Amino acid sequence: MCENAKGKFYVTTPIYYPSDNLHIGHAYCTTATDTLARFKRLEGYDTYFLTGLDEHGQKIERKAAEKGVTPQQYVDGICKATKELWKIMDISYDDFIRTTEERHQRVVQKIFEKLYKQGDIYKSEYEGWYCTPCESFWTEHQLKDGKCPDCGRPVEKAHEESYFLRLSKYAPRLIEHIKAHPEFIQPESRANEMLNNFLLPGLEDLCVSRTSFSWGIPVTFDPGHVVYVWVDALSNYISALGYLTENDEKFRKYWPADVHIVGKEIVRFHTIIWPIILMALDLPLPKQVFGHGWLVMDGQKMSKSIGNVVDPVVLCGRYGSDAIRYFLMREMPFGADGNFTNEALLSRINSDLANDLGNLVSRTVAMIEKYFGGALPAMGERQEVDDALIALSEALPAKVSDLVTKMQFSTALSEIWKLIGECNRYIDLTQPWVLGRSEEGKTRLSTVLYVLAECCRVVGVLITPFMPQTPARIFEQLGVTDPALSSWDSVGAFGGLKPGATVHKGAALFPRIDIPKEMEALAALNPKKAEAAAPAKAPEKAPAEEKDEEELIDIDTFFKVKLKVAKVLTAEAVKRSDKLLKLTVKCGEETRTVVSGISKYYAPEDLVGKTVVLAANLKPAKLKGIVSEGMLLAAADDEKGLLRLLTCDGEIPDGTEIG
Ligand code: MSP
Repeated sequence: MCENAKGKFYVTTPIYYPSDNLHIGHAYCTTATDTLARFKRLEGYDTYFLTGLDEHGQKIERKAAEKGVTPQQYVDGICKATKELWKIMDISYDDFIRTTEERHQRVVQKIFEKLYKQGDIYKSEYEGWYCTPCESFWTEHQLKDGKCPDCGRPVEKAHEESYFLRLSKYAPRLIEHIKAHPEFIQPESRANEMLNNFLLPGLEDLCVSRTSFSWGIPVTFDPGHVVYVWVDALSNYISALGYLTENDEKFRKYWPADVHIVGKEIVRFHTIIWPIILMALDLPLPKQVFGHGWLVMDGQKMSKSIGNVVDPVVLCGRYGSDAIRYFLMREMPFGADGNFTNEALLSRINSDLANDLGNLVSRTVAMIEKYFGGALPAMGERQEVDDALIALSEALPAKVSDLVTKMQFSTALSEIWKLIGECNRYIDLTQPWVLGRSEEGKTRLSTVLYVLAECCRVVGVLITPFMPQTPARIFEQLGVTDPALSSWDSVGAFGGLKPGATVHKGAALFPRIDIPKEMEALAALNPKKAEAAAPAKAPEKAPAEEKDEEELIDIDTFFKVKLKVAKVLTAEAVKRSDKLLKLTVKCGEETRTVVSGISKYYAPEDLVGKTVVLAANLKPAKLKGIVSEGMLLAAADDEKGLLRLLTCDGEIPDGTEIG
């Protein structure tokens, strides 16, 4: 029994096939699981997070032979690299299980014996097809053009004496379970896929032992056989907890799993074979299996054999693991496929992390230093504008918790960023630099800066599961020393920060990246990968993100577009283009390159010195080989051949936000 007031939470990633080349796609699933586990821990759940390596099978045996090492030597080397990557990415697993460990092998053998003794496993002969890369059996009619229907690679004929698991016996019970528990397979579309493609047409018994190779767990009562790698692998979720051992305390406490997070291609194993093994063992089924989408490049799953992998170690080294974790969780809805490009990554870092979050914290701390000598002022009388921001902040934890529990990581982050956006708008509305000029204004300013600092703290707490390192740097700047102020309980009610605390302006949380230069640097690191990382066709869109073009938008949607005042520094014609001008514009402390289709309407020299309006948070786009970091707003009528740039009415510093 779990003594924790909130209860227990058991979450797993798939155990990975050892890979020489762990790529950002592997990190995707593990980062999501880690985020969920950290979130549940933050909320106070007694959380257990399991990951590991799936080290048996014909594929590993062959790879090791190619390298001239034993399979065990091969997997040992990869295990070390995998654990290093998880350390770099701050993956907070509670246990890392390897299927070659004795503690796992013994449990699998006992499970196999038990199922054999009770008649759910029986001996017969297998004749059919086997896909070694996927470690999957296929019947003749399941093949697609004679190839594996999952990966499209050639299959091999398999004819051997084998043990079989009675899937057919349990199929009706499983169908009932799926129908009665809509939360069991998520997203819902994957449940329909399992029912319609596999369960309802009828399940055949599954071949669960192999004799044609030896790198697996031997069947105790028939040593020529090794256990089929998926039965071996799936059992890790309970062997790691000590099932069928004397030390089964963890099993009794944590099983059933609250959620198995898996990629969409292995939902089938987790929602058909695994539940049937559990039913045969008379154990409760996991509460949920969540099938996430793939990180793709040019519409294809990232994979070493396709040659389009991106190395997470390189990216973490250049931008920090928090930035990579943020990007993975923010860029695409978790259930759908998402496209990886270096450009998208860099522009997220600049717009969301450097501009929105980084600037908010640094502006807040700098103003407390400037106007109050670095001592956090107290909150005085509140005005409507303060109440609105405070209400947003107080409602946020429950909203984020609900979204994270539903695996809507991207929306959870965009909700947190709404508060950040509102804080930046609040600065523009309250104009602290004007308040700071008079004593009367300073009374009001103390409330404004307290509210901002407290919102920064709330943001710091809520992003902890997504970005484990950044909050400590925010708290350090805000002078937060009491650990209670970084807890979940401290964010529900506004006003945790203690007035008088000393703030310290630190280094920028996320230094702005010079995107064109960085793109070149990435290309130079690995030209082949950089080519693969060029913008590709749009990924499958999540239904939640589809928009009706005619619909009216609310004010929040409007404010997603960051409009800023910019000053044109230089302008020149773009070679081989009769439309484009290349401009450099100054926008506050930064200088950007913008390519604009206005050369028919403006001579370059007429533009220099103009104060224009820049859409500042657009993803960069390449035009005639030049990366454009934003768009200038203009009124245009193509038919009449009219175009005029929007400018500002009177003097206003560049960098000022418009809205
Ligand atoms: N060993 C099995 C799992 C056994 S679980 C009992 C396996 N391993 S794997 O290494 O091939 O994949 C591990 C996880 O990484 C899967 O969930 C898979 O979907 C995920 N990903 C691998 N490449 C990926 C992307 N490009 N994008 C997203 N996830 C990806 O399957």
